[in-house]
Amino acid sequence: MEYTTKNQEETTLIGKDIASQLQGGDILLLHGDLGAGKTTLTKGIAKYFEIDEVVSPTFTLMQEYTIRNPKSAVPAGRQEVRSLIHIDTYRLKDEEQLVEIGVEDYLGAPDTICLIEWPEKIKNLLKNKHIKNIVIKHQKDQERLINLDF
Ligand SMILES: Nc1ncnc2c1ncn2[C@@H]1O[C@H](COP(=O)(O)OP(=O)(O)O)[C@@H](O)[C@H]1O
Ligand SMILES: [Mg+2]
Repeated sequence: MEYTTKNQEETTLIGKDIASQLQGGDILLLHGDLGAGKTTLTKGIAKYFEIDEVVSPTFTLMQEYTIRNPKSAVPAGRQEVRSLIHIDTYRLKDEEQLVEIGVEDYLGAPDTICLIEWPEKIKNLLKNKHIKNIVIKHQKDQERLINLDF
């Protein structure tokens, strides 16, 4: 699936649309340069789950948000989505730093959706995980190309 957006608001709306296709256990890798719109898309995804205040995890590395009103229909054998995890590895020193704060409890947990900015820095942690990729490209001015591999 591929989308083109013409401004920040449109990217937020695409985030909401993408969120409606997600289920617990999903790990989404957000690829794209600085300023591409990874955090903007994350805010859109969070909004779908009625989370309005997404803070930058740049200094905390990882933020957990509790989803109060699970939305997605729950497929057989799956749990409701109860939390959203936002990770930004931009300032991460090494993977161990994330392990120390418990990241492995969240990655792929059946009631959790994980969104990861700069995932290439944590390749080992993602090994053998089922992942979904989103690539955002800065086209020109405010235009962005958003590509999903799902
Ligand atoms: N179509 C668009 N989609 C997303 N952001 C856009 C768009 N056009 C302009 N912008 C601007 O680009 C920046 C994207 O920032 P951000 O989402 O934090 O990027 P990243 O997390 O990838 O570094 C914001 O300042 C936003 O206003
Ligand atoms: Mg960001």
